[in-house]
This record gives sequence, C-alpha cells and structure tokens, in this order.
Amino acid sequence: MEQYAINGGNPLVGEVEIGGAKNAALPILAASLMTDESVLIDNMPDVRDTNILLEALQGIGVQVERLDRHTVRTHGAFVNSLVVEGDSVKKIRGSYYFLGALLGKYREATVVLPGGCDIGCRAIDQHIKGFKALGAEVTIAHGMITARTQHLAGSHIYLDVASVGATINIMMAAVLADGRTIIENAAKEPHVVDLANFLNSMGANIKGAGTDVVRIRGVEKLHRTEYTIIPDQIEAGTYMFAAAATGGDITVKNVIPKHLESVSAKLTEIGCRVQEADDIVRVVAGPLHHTHVKTFFYPGFPTDMQPQIVVTLGLAQGTSIVTESVFENRFRYVEALVRMGASIRVEGNTAIIDGISRYTGASINAPDLRAGAALVIAALAAEGFSSVDDIRYIERGYEDFHLKLQKLGAQIAKVDSERELQKFKLKIS
Ligand code: EPZ
Repeated sequence: MEQYAINGGNPLVGEVEIGGAKNAALPILAASLMTDESVLIDNMPDVRDTNILLEALQGIGVQVERLDRHTVRTHGAFVNSLVVEGDSVKKIRGSYYFLGALLGKYREATVVLPGGCDIGCRAIDQHIKGFKALGAEVTIAHGMITARTQHLAGSHIYLDVASVGATINIMMAAVLADGRTIIENAAKEPHVVDLANFLNSMGANIKGAGTDVVRIRGVEKLHRTEYTIIPDQIEAGTYMFAAAATGGDITVKNVIPKHLESVSAKLTEIGCRVQEADDIVRVVAGPLHHTHVKTFFYPGFPTDMQPQIVVTLGLAQGTSIVTESVFENRFRYVEALVRMGASIRVEGNTAIIDGISRYTGASINAPDLRAGAALVIAALAAEGFSSVDDIRYIERGYEDFHLKLQKLGAQIAKVDSERELQKFKLKIS
C-alpha cells in the first residue's frame, strides 16, 4: 500500500506552480457532453477524481482524447447511455454532475448515488428540489438516482443552503431548459463562476454567477468551445499554510490572488507576511499567533482549508478557536494530530487549540483529501520521521503532491513497500 515517508523539521522554501481547480474541472468535464461538437479543455488537473470522471465520460460514449497531461478534447455527439454507474464513479462526489448535464441535454439521467470524502452527511435534497422545479420526476432506487422529464421548463428556485453542487447541477440543466430560470441563494464559489463561464463560452446565457442570484435563459443547443480552467485555490492555499506551519517562505505561482483573500487575511492576522502580484502570492512565515476562524461559504474562509489552518494554529502561540460551519464531520483528523503532540479539543463543531512549539513525527492515516494534505504539512513541520497512509485520498485532488513538496526542500518520498520505507529511513539517518 502506497504511503508517504516524511522526515520533518525543514522550513519549506521556494516556488510552486499551481494546477487547474479540481472542483471546477469536474463539472466542466461533465458539461462538455452537453454539445454535439468538440470541446477543448486546458489546465485540466491530472488527479484521481478528474481521471475517474474522464473514464465515466468514455463509459457513456463520449469520445475523450488526452492531447497532453493537462489538455483534453471531448466529443459529446456519441453518447450511447444515460446511465452512469460503476465502482469508481460511486466514490467521487463529482459524478452527480452527470445528472444536470444529461438531464439538460437528453431530458433523462440515471447516476449512481455520489460518494466523496466522509466529512458529513452531504445531502442532495437541494439538487432534487431544483430538478423537480424544472419539471423533472426524480426517483431513488437501488443506489441510483434518476431524473427524467418530457418537458424541462425554466423556474424560480430558492436554495435553502448555498450549495455548490446544487447550484452547478441546476445551472447545467437550466441552460437547455425552455425559458428563464432564477436560482436564489446560489453558491458563489470561484468554480461555480468558472462553470458558468465555460457554459457561456458554449453559447449558454447565464448571468449573475458569483452573486447570490443566478439568472439563466435557456437556449436550444450549445456549441464547440476551447476553455482554460481556473487555478486551484485550495491547492494554492494548502502550500500557503505549508509555508506558515514549517516556518518557510513559499511563492505560489499561477493563482488568482482574489480567490485567496480569506486565506491571505488569516495568514497575515496570525503573523505571516503575504505579498501579492499579478498571478503570484508569496507567504513568508513569522512567529505565529492565535486567532479565531469560522468556515463559511465563499468569500468566507473555506471549509476545504479548515484542516490546514488547524494544523498551523496548533503551532501558534496562545489559544485558537476554529468553528466548522459547512460540514458536520470535518475534525476526524484531529485524533492523528493529537498523536503528533497537538493540544486540541473538539467540542461539537468547534476545535479549541492550545498552540505548542513543535509536533513530533508519528504513523498516521489520511482520513480524507484535505485533512490528508494537512497531516502531511503537520508531518513536514514535525520533528523526526512520520508515515502517512491512505494517500489515495490525497491523490484525489493534489497533483504530484510529494514531488512539488520535494522541490520546496521537503524530505518526503512515496513508498510502497517496507523495503522502500527502510531505505528512506536509512537515507535520513
Ligand atoms: C463541494 O462539495 C466540493 N466538492 C467540496 O470539496 C467542498 O468542500 C464543498 O463544495 C464546499 O465548498 C466538489 O466540488 C466536488 P455543498 P458539495 O453542496 O457540492 C449541505 C474537496 O475537498 N447541502 O456546497 O458536496 C451539505 O450537507 C471537497 O475538494 C444540503 O443540505 O458541497 C453541506 O453542509 C470536499 N443539501 C453544505 O450544504 C444539498 O442538497 C455545503 O455542501 C446539498 C448540500
């Protein structure tokens, strides 16, 4: 079983290039089937979740050509099945984007119920409410969800929660519905805007993406496009916290600094120096102070950065309080951090953190994608050797994670046998 072997204690220093946003890539890939013409997508991250989605597209007849590691061409004229299933797709959250895409184009879709990281109950009631409002009949049976209708018609939908997934799914179905759809209390995350821009580049008529109210006027069909996915703000933020936690100095390149404002603000507040220019953000660590953080929908502090800030605050002077307000089960990694010496108590959706001066290495498991990455940062900041298991979770969303960290001076290797692990230990001793 592959794991990371890590010898911590070195400040991470240097430059790191950020890839395309996974959470934009997933809906964009699904939406690419909505035209019968070819779609060229650039800055596609080469991570497990996007690769599973590409396989799923091929599984229903979409032609997929990988022009290079980060460029993909799809052709949606040859869809031969409206059923998306299989063990891999079941494991990723993004598979539910086939519902909106297929329902919009073919008025029917059946998709295996979505999985994804175990961070909470992750309801899909708002997606269902949206599809029903557009005139679809939605049924769930045998682990599959089906949405179908003869007539998809625009509607006025008020979301009870500003859900990223529901906003995106409804938007996809609505672009090919008859008439006008208004989504109120829509999610405003950058990947929602990116999907809207992508659909508009195919001839859709979406206005207001990135605000609370998205207005969509249905069009008859979508056409070919060439599109570049936005940089991944969560990947970028992860390296920014890696700089802070290891006492380092990292320049993250190819980012949109605006998307990182809440992260930059917190890093400045806790004592780091953050410099921004065009598509670059540099974080220089300083002595870390405590703070309070509450995760929230964009532009609030992202839930996907919560484990990374907790790991960092675990090393900050004083008592910090971090409240998770988006997912109810996102502190499972704290147990591993405590094994590394952290002094953290979780009460309900709040973590109370008494900063310590240094973690110590331990054998730990990645419980999910972002927590896994955060634990790797903890191990890099820690004194001595750590191993991080279950790294398949991390590879869902971070391209070349250990290689990028190595370039920043980290002593980290991906090993898949006891022999390789011992070799790593010998090298560092
Ligand atoms: C997306 O998940 C991301 N996943 C998550 O990224 C991210 O954490 C999350 O948005 C929040 O930003 C993808 O883009 C594939 P939501 P999603 O619907 O769409 C509740 C990562 O690490 N809700 O915005 O599933 C839900 O329970 C991951 O990359 C309902 O109640 O998130 C949650 O409390 C993990 N009913 C809140 O809304 C619904 O119908 C936000 O969920 C839908 C959601």
